[in-house]
Amino acid sequence: MKQTNCNQSNSWSSKKLRKSYLEFFKSYGHEIIPSASLLPDNDPTVLFTTAGMHPLVPYLLGEKHPLGRRLVDCQKCIRTDDIEEVGDETHLTFFEMLGNWSLGDYFKRESITMSYEFLTLELGIPKERLAVTVFEGDDSVPRDVETHHIWSSLGLRENQIFFYGRKENWWGPAGQTGPCGPDSEIFYDNGCNPCSDQCGPACNCGKYVEIWNNVFMEYKKEGNGTYTLLSQKNVDTGMGLERILAILNNKNSVFETDLFLPLIMKLEDLMGIKILNEINNMNSAEETMKQFRIIADHMRSITFLLADDKGIIPSNTEQGYILRRLIRRTLRLLKKCNINQNVLPEFAEIVILNNQEEYPELVRNRDFIFDQLKKEYHLFRKTLDSGLKKAEQFMRSLEGDRILSGDLAFKLYDTYGFPIELTIELAEEYGASVDLFEFNRKYKEHQEKSRVGAEGKFKGGLADQSERTARLHTATHLLNGALRIVLGNTVYQKGSNINADRLRFDFSFDRKLTEEELQKVEQIVNEAIDKDIPVICEELTTTEAKDQGAIGVFDHKYEQRVKVYTIQGYSKEICGGPHASKTSELKHFTILKEESSSAGVRRIKASIQED
Ligand code: ALA
Repeated sequence: MKQTNCNQSNSWSSKKLRKSYLEFFKSYGHEIIPSASLLPDNDPTVLFTTAGMHPLVPYLLGEKHPLGRRLVDCQKCIRTDDIEEVGDETHLTFFEMLGNWSLGDYFKRESITMSYEFLTLELGIPKERLAVTVFEGDDSVPRDVETHHIWSSLGLRENQIFFYGRKENWWGPAGQTGPCGPDSEIFYDNGCNPCSDQCGPACNCGKYVEIWNNVFMEYKKEGNGTYTLLSQKNVDTGMGLERILAILNNKNSVFETDLFLPLIMKLEDLMGIKILNEINNMNSAEETMKQFRIIADHMRSITFLLADDKGIIPSNTEQGYILRRLIRRTLRLLKKCNINQNVLPEFAEIVILNNQEEYPELVRNRDFIFDQLKKEYHLFRKTLDSGLKKAEQFMRSLEGDRILSGDLAFKLYDTYGFPIELTIELAEEYGASVDLFEFNRKYKEHQEKSRVGAEGKFKGGLADQSERTARLHTATHLLNGALRIVLGNTVYQKGSNINADRLRFDFSFDRKLTEEELQKVEQIVNEAIDKDIPVICEELTTTEAKDQGAIGVFDHKYEQRVKVYTIQGYSKEICGGPHASKTSELKHFTILKEESSSAGVRRIKASIQED
């Protein structure tokens, strides 16, 4: 991110920027909504919340939002598809996305005008420093002349407006189906000379930095690949907080903002070096800086993941696996920096202190975060120790030219989490070398496989809004209600996930359920289904909802209206929906499995009868 001096004042803190964005859109009639969890609800196809619009998909598709048609928030997001890029100036795994939405309310003109006003008047970015892109049109959707016209009327010159095709100027669906549309991206032009005649926002020479995306979501991509018009025209916007903060402060990288500096400074302290002063003068500092950046980035992801109220823990599958990978990578890098003690809690503490006002879950789950970091550290040390034994065994068995094969080196890496640098060092002690060519080949092959796997997950489609999903969702509420009837009111939801085959429900309870308890729970749910009770949705304030005994996540900071779903006699929960309209649509409920999920958390998998 190459910066040249422009007129922005150097005094933007992340707190001031967040507040200014939320307040600006509030003044234009938007309701401020809290960030949703990092772990999407009822969406088997994605691991994490990857954009501000993700938790709002049902509303973009037409469902009524209890807070109205204009919303604004700052959403926690995790994207791991370019984890290998982290360490440069802009890539992050955890980031915050500022976003504003029109759910069938304003459209292109208001959206663009508000973005322009916020950037130029609130943030003070000179309009000459902006460049924008517009959809050039194709066979199915016409050229977006309206958006071009709006930008021109705001005073942007022709050489600041660029037309591009679908690759650059179409956003979504985030999965295979869902809301999508042409977009208009806003870039910051750092004022350097163009790298060639072709230079423009799509060029990656560094002249243009993408800061904001305005998506005009009026289409829905269907399962058969066709596009239909949505029942309403929406606007979905997204601006990366970290990037715009760096630009406002004339910084070369996001890591030089207040979101990261305390973490980098802690690393400096631990290593007794001053890298921030050296980085511009010393090439040798570059590698260390890269390691510092990765550690700082990963520590934010790790802390926010562990702080999530859904209670995610490191494991060998799905989100838990990504979390474990981030922790181990951090420990390996710390080891490279000669820091061998468990300093993860010290970094987590910094993340908590830095963000606790905006994200109170960091404080609520502080003990849990530290406890997990301690456990994972010890587990990794143990793995490393057993890896060492295996490695020594391999080394002793080497004969002849004493080369450790790429296969064995990769086995040490993959099975024992053994960094290749350690394998090389160890081999040297045994007077041997490592077949790095073969190791790298295996490593790349493995990376390619996990990339394809991860992309499959990320691109696999947003929350399936089918009727069966809605019915499984209602079954989840009934199950929650029945568990509280049988086991008591200390049971509360720790996680929920739905796919076409089953629901999965995690709840707080500290022992295995007995056969009778499970039968009783199943019987209560089926009794509710047989009674054909209507599923009633009301909009209440959080206080009213609480007073009426509704359960659910009360994470709303303001006196806001929320949706409450009631199944009389069985369940009253704050929830976004969608749901079945009456319980008889569920036909029959069966518990498939009950097992432990983590300490103090049990998991039930259950299903309902097929149509
Ligand atoms: N959903 C749009 C994005 O993530 C705004 O870029």
